[in-house]
Amino acid sequence: MRICSALYLHLFLLPLFYADSVYGFGSMGPVSAAFGDEGFFCAIDASGRQNVICWAKNVSSSSSNAPALSSPSPSSNAILPMAALSGGEAFMCGILANTSQAFCWSYFDPTNTDLVPPAYQFTAYSYIAAGKGHVCAVRGYYYSEKDSGSVDCWEIVRSSNRTLSSVQNTRFYDQSIANLGFRKIVGGGGFSCGEVRDGGLVCWGPSAEGLGLSEVSGRFQVLASGMGALCGILEESAEIRCWGDNSSFIEPPVGTRFISLTAGARHFCGIREDTHEVECWGSYNSSLLPKGSGFMAIASSDFTICGTREGDLVLDCWFSNASSIIPDYDPPLELSSPGLCTPQPCGAGEFAFNASTLNEAGLTSLCVRRDLQICSPCGLNCSEGYFLSSECTANSDRICTSCSLCQNSSCTSVCGLPLPRETRQKHFRQIRQLVLIVGCSVIGFLSVLMVGCLLPRLMGAPPRPEKGKRKRFGTCIKKQEFKAEQDDDLARPPLNPTPDIGLAQVFRLSELKDATNGFKEFNELGRGSYGFVYKAVLSDGRYVAVKRANAATIIHTNSREFEMELEILCKVRHPNVVNLLGYCSEMGERLLVYELMPHGTLHDHLHGGLSPLNWELRLKIAMQAARGLEYLHKESVPPIVHRDVKSSNILLDADMVARIADFGLLTPSERDLVEDMKSDVYNFGIVLLEILSGRKSYDIDFMPPDIVEWAVPLIKNGKGAAIIDRYAALPRNVEPLLKLADMAELALRVDPNQRPTVSEIASLLEQIVKDDLIL
Ligand SMILES: *[C@@H]1O[C@H](CO)[C@@H](O)[C@H](O)[C@H]1NC(C)=O
Ligand SMILES: *[C@@H]1O[C@H](CO)[C@@H](O)[C@H](O)[C@H]1NC(C)=O
Ligand SMILES: *[C@@H]1O[C@H](CO)[C@@H](O)[C@H](O)[C@H]1NC(C)=O
Ligand SMILES: *[C@@H]1O[C@H](CO)[C@@H](O)[C@H](O)[C@H]1NC(C)=O
Ligand SMILES: *[C@@H]1O[C@H](CO)[C@@H](O)[C@H](O)[C@H]1NC(C)=O
Ligand SMILES: *[C@@H]1O[C@H](CO)[C@@H](O)[C@H](O)[C@H]1NC(C)=O
Ligand SMILES: *[C@@H]1O[C@H](CO)[C@@H](O)[C@H](O)[C@H]1NC(C)=O
Ligand SMILES: *[C@@H]1O[C@H](CO)[C@@H](O)[C@H](O)[C@H]1NC(C)=O
Ligand SMILES: *[C@@H]1O[C@H](CO)[C@@H](O)[C@H](O)[C@H]1NC(C)=O
Repeated sequence: MRICSALYLHLFLLPLFYADSVYGFGSMGPVSAAFGDEGFFCAIDASGRQNVICWAKNVSSSSSNAPALSSPSPSSNAILPMAALSGGEAFMCGILANTSQAFCWSYFDPTNTDLVPPAYQFTAYSYIAAGKGHVCAVRGYYYSEKDSGSVDCWEIVRSSNRTLSSVQNTRFYDQSIANLGFRKIVGGGGFSCGEVRDGGLVCWGPSAEGLGLSEVSGRFQVLASGMGALCGILEESAEIRCWGDNSSFIEPPVGTRFISLTAGARHFCGIREDTHEVECWGSYNSSLLPKGSGFMAIASSDFTICGTREGDLVLDCWFSNASSIIPDYDPPLELSSPGLCTPQPCGAGEFAFNASTLNEAGLTSLCVRRDLQICSPCGLNCSEGYFLSSECTANSDRICTSCSLCQNSSCTSVCGLPLPRETRQKHFRQIRQLVLIVGCSVIGFLSVLMVGCLLPRLMGAPPRPEKGKRKRFGTCIKKQEFKAEQDDDLARPPLNPTPDIGLAQVFRLSELKDATNGFKEFNELGRGSYGFVYKAVLSDGRYVAVKRANAATIIHTNSREFEMELEILCKVRHPNVVNLLGYCSEMGERLLVYELMPHGTLHDHLHGGLSPLNWELRLKIAMQAARGLEYLHKESVPPIVHRDVKSSNILLDADMVARIADFGLLTPSERDLVEDMKSDVYNFGIVLLEILSGRKSYDIDFMPPDIVEWAVPLIKNGKGAAIIDRYAALPRNVEPLLKLADMAELALRVDPNQRPTVSEIASLLEQIVKDDLIL
């Protein structure tokens, strides 16, 4: 009978319990910010262990030897799972998941010493809210049925040497609140406010009077406060009400329903109920707000706002004010909890977050206990450019899909006319135009075929005059023909007229000499083991790359081998391979003429001075390179093993399509073939890591400097997100990047038999690119 009535009471009180999503400055949530200019934030992670991850301005997320801004711990090696967080000035407080005890720690203290006064260290709390220099907490057990409890407050003071210490003093003790039971509280600059058991707000503390609150009744879904102001979301209408210093909440939106709220120095921001987009009011710069992204939780410090994205639980940060932007301020790319864990079942209009959608191996729940779950309000609508492809259910939020994937009448009205999808079908074409590459950095060792820096003044060089019509394009070379008008000094037939070698053109040495300004070094694109590579302008105006064998190469390969190479090269024809246009074999010279790749190497786009690449382009390039490599392995006859797969051997043509260059020509024995292909796959795995992380394959700015030793342990430990390059704006959905990281990890297995084939890598990439999965 007791159980029944308890259950009845429990169901009856549900609407009061599930509205616990209070996030922000001075309030409690899964992500919280500290007051002050350090940009100190912490969030509960999505590992299922409820560990805490923290970041701040002075701590670069990419540096792997970051100071102890990690999880709070009494001794530096124990990690404390937290149920909820709330930030004060340069400190953070939380409720411990297992004991409900409060724990506070300072940004300035690498040892994370507990700042809770001894008198309160063993008290259990159900709610905590730090203000500027004080903390209040509601007594009770966090993960048991919450009704209300009395409040304890303490102060945290800063000494001149920035050390923080706690004081159990009476400035926040108020006789009138001592006997009240609070459901939720919030803290600001010199005041705390709370909603009492039967509804209505009460404030206390030295600055409470200034808020001008009197007789505020009603229930609040969320409360958030800044230095001198307080806003709340009314439970009934989901609308905003504010009190206090009105400079920070000028014109709060009217008629918009919100689900979450946070306050900064001179702004408030909320998450809209319909689209889950962030909307702010007060003094802020709207062009800095993330567009088209939904969020589950947000928190704001003075000028910095961070949120947990709804699709993938990635933390994203932005600034409220352009003049306060700090470069490279980013949270670690770890997934964080979308809400607080609760023992209550989710209410109407809510869904329980399903951890298996995160595709993290072995992760079944985001909470420390099986009986807990995270309930979040359902989204009703999608941002502009997205259509609703699936309604909210008990276990999943509504799903928004990019309008570029809208295929039938179910979405055309929401999306307007669907944009034609860009099909960058690469057809065999001549390069008509040389795109100037300016400002590229000089990389010491350029691989054999690549585009380097070209002095702009050279670009003005007029095309060579026409020299007769002896081009034989598109036919196999059968016989050399030479017309009478040619220069005679070099006009001898090739030493070995080569029969039938496919779609290649035979060039005269004199012609290539002219086209390269006599093989002058300012036409040089790079050098490799084979010899030099020159940029050349043919007499018909085409730009090509000419590979000229050096003496050593010529000595070590006889002309028969050269012919065999030519025979293979002529047959290699693929849109993702740098194709041979022709050759020249005269006067003991060996020259190969290739399509010119005006956009340089992938290496220089990722690590050099060439234009940075967004994720869409990176994934397309990775897919195209994989397709090129697959062609060499699987389709060319005989199969070709590259032997030197690296980002500087992946070139970008005029359409930014990736082409594999500089593949080896030695045909391996049947026995070695498979093994060599597996080593190509390994090297392609390194290229994938470079694409994902933006870092070089060997980089002493990282520990360890070797990209494989650095990334693989992270990926294997489910922290693949930590390697994702934060210099490229994150895609809407990072999960495909994490899948690609898993694929790279497989490609880098020590046992070649465990590595995938390049076709498997190509298929994964194709699926990601084709379905626009990152959008
Ligand atoms: C952060 O760095 C700036 C300069 O780089 C320094 O002035 C400031 O004191 C640092 N803040 C903290 C909290 O260490
Ligand atoms: C709570 O967790 C901490 C750290 O993991 C541990 O030291 C402590 O013994 C735990 N307490 C209880 C009651 O389980
Ligand atoms: C800072 O000052 C406090 C007292 O004012 C003292 O206890 C503490 O040791 C000092 N810390 C440092 C690092 O000087
Ligand atoms: C802000 O408050 C002051 C004083 O209460 C008042 O005079 C002023 O009109 C208010 N401003 C706005 C925009 O509401
Ligand atoms: C941005 O911050 C500066 C100083 O920090 C302030 O003067 C300016 O008014 C702020 N601008 C906005 C739009 O908030
Ligand atoms: C808002 O931010 C953008 C981007 O940084 C900047 O160009 C613009 O000037 C800012 N606007 C104001 C009013 O500060
Ligand atoms: C979570 O999602 C997975 C797969 O999407 C499904 O199999 C599972 O039943 C879901 N869990 C719950 C509790 O609905
Ligand atoms: C959905 O959002 C669009 C704009 O983003 C708006 O025009 C439309 O009315 C919204 N629909 C609903 C049902 O809220
Ligand atoms: C429209 O296409 C989606 C898949 O793209 C499908 O699920 C849906 O049933 C289709 N609706 C109609 C009306 O054909």
